[in-house]
Amino acid sequence: MRRKLAAGNWKMNGLRAALSELEALAPTLAGEAEVLICPPATLISAACETAPDGLAIGGQDCHPKDSGAHTGDISAEMLKDAGASHVILGHSERRDDHGESDADVRAKCAAAWAAGLTVVLCCGESLTQREAQDTLDIIGGQLAGSVPDGATGHNLVIAYEPIWAIGTGLIPTLDQIGEVHDFIRMRLERRFGAGVGRSVRILYGGSVKPGNAAEIFGVSNVDGALVGGASLTAADFRPIVEAL
Ligand code: G3H
Repeated sequence: MRRKLAAGNWKMNGLRAALSELEALAPTLAGEAEVLICPPATLISAACETAPDGLAIGGQDCHPKDSGAHTGDISAEMLKDAGASHVILGHSERRDDHGESDADVRAKCAAAWAAGLTVVLCCGESLTQREAQDTLDIIGGQLAGSVPDGATGHNLVIAYEPIWAIGTGLIPTLDQIGEVHDFIRMRLERRFGAGVGRSVRILYGGSVKPGNAAEIFGVSNVDGALVGGASLTAADFRPIVEAL
């Protein structure tokens, strides 16, 4: 049985005052779902200190190396040391803004696992790729290229995020979401075996809001959500968590 997961990605948003939103999530933490917030790196330590019991804190990226001359970067070990338990890797904004390849994401994932972090690994197609009916090929390629050997239901979560649905208010049809999630499940089972393949959680991400979360969570193989804009306030994120 996979535990549902509601993950919030604050992206490049949040000053110290935003930490009060974490405390306001406390009432949602008594439920069965796991709840994770990934604030900007500047807030991770403070978030870990102020987060109510049961709220997990994660990073949004890590460097593949443990340490060294990499100005501005943060290692997986540093995230762990700051109190993080998870890290988002391979988000389309990292792939686009920083030219991250599947090989880069794979190396980061291996580093995160070595540090004991659970990776929320993102994949997703552009609108052009979807219109060309290349979605499953793109997702299959990203999974094969980005996920190292050694995945388990504990160290890996997959987030399917169609790029064209991120921050746009657009979402795929429920059938389209189901098709991709079933495909990801099949690929995980084929590569890692049925036991591991069935234990890895698969999140949907892209314009998840309080008003559409319940119907998305009803789709086959949707084990939760990776939420951007609607995770910034507890008022928006709480009903999403409660819909799980
Ligand atoms: O990581 C989160 C996703 O990019 C979704 O962002 O909920 O603002 O569309 P959004």
